[in-house]
Amino acid sequence: MYKLPSPVQAPTNKKPNKRRFRYLIFQILGAILLLSWISYSFSSGVDRISLKIHPAVEGLISRPGPISPIRQKEKKKEAYVTFLSSITDPAYLLSTRLLIYQLLHDPLNLDSTRSRDIVVVLTPEISQDVEALLMREGATIERVELLDGLDLPEQVNDHWRDQYTKLNIFNLTSYERVLYLDNDVLLLKSLEDIWHSDGSDLPSGLGGVGENSKRLMRNTDLRIPPPEGLDVEEKDYLNAGFMLIRPDEGLFEELRGVRGYDTFYMEQALINHYFDWEGEHPWTALDYKFVSHFPRSSDIEEGYHSLHAKMWKDPVPQAVRQIWEQAVERMEEHWRWHEEE
Ligand SMILES: *[C@@H]1O[C@H](CO)[C@@H](O)[C@H](O)[C@H]1NC(C)=O
Repeated sequence: MYKLPSPVQAPTNKKPNKRRFRYLIFQILGAILLLSWISYSFSSGVDRISLKIHPAVEGLISRPGPISPIRQKEKKKEAYVTFLSSITDPAYLLSTRLLIYQLLHDPLNLDSTRSRDIVVVLTPEISQDVEALLMREGATIERVELLDGLDLPEQVNDHWRDQYTKLNIFNLTSYERVLYLDNDVLLLKSLEDIWHSDGSDLPSGLGGVGENSKRLMRNTDLRIPPPEGLDVEEKDYLNAGFMLIRPDEGLFEELRGVRGYDTFYMEQALINHYFDWEGEHPWTALDYKFVSHFPRSSDIEEGYHSLHAKMWKDPVPQAVRQIWEQAVERMEEHWRWHEEE
């Protein structure tokens, strides 16, 4: 008898197609799993999981490229820099250590981003022991050679070569910008705002705070403060103890070739000659509240960030000296506590 095909067997085309579709999905998933296992094996080290692969196929499997040098060591953008050339007066070492402490560890003054190096530039005269001490306390060390070949003042003192050697900070090209501080700068508050402050883009490569008017400067071993009430706009004579710098090897070489200035103040005179406000590369004035070059007790209430003087021997007001003494005490306490740990 002729039997009609049951509806189940009828070639409806629907169910077998669904099945085929499922197989396809499983095949694709399987292929994906296999491929990802192969690529994982390669990226996680061919040595550990040894796979035999035909050389013709090997070329088709992409391997991770070499790690770029930028990822290995990121270029630091900014640093605080100071300079130590002699410790015949041990107060200079104390003062350098104090600056490192204030910038890195002192809760009242540190750079809270903790992203900037504290660099100490050392001349060959400074011993390995001192270098090791500064490194232990957190500094990054830059050794430089004494810088020769610049014009000397008539009465040369023992430290003329050191003074010019300070110019090496213009060659610290592993940083985009550096804030140079003489090692006798005492912080009253963090200096971290300076990196984003007005003028910090440094069109000529140098910014700072004027200490006096050029027309009033005299060659003298005594430090003469500017007349009371002299306007900031008139202070076109930069104090080289506090400078925001964009290091540049070309600029550094150019500075080494500068001649024809009154050499009495050596590197500071050279800098003021080259970066003259009337010349081609005027230095940029930063907010004068970043540093007081002739500290007065009123600076403390007026919100200055730092005071620049040899607190252990310059004739500074008692209130100022007291702040220095307290900072030294905090530092000693800090390191005592650290040694006991
Ligand atoms: C200045 O820096 C460059 C690059 O780091 C270096 O090759 C050169 O010797 C430096 N110049 C001096 C005089 O130290």
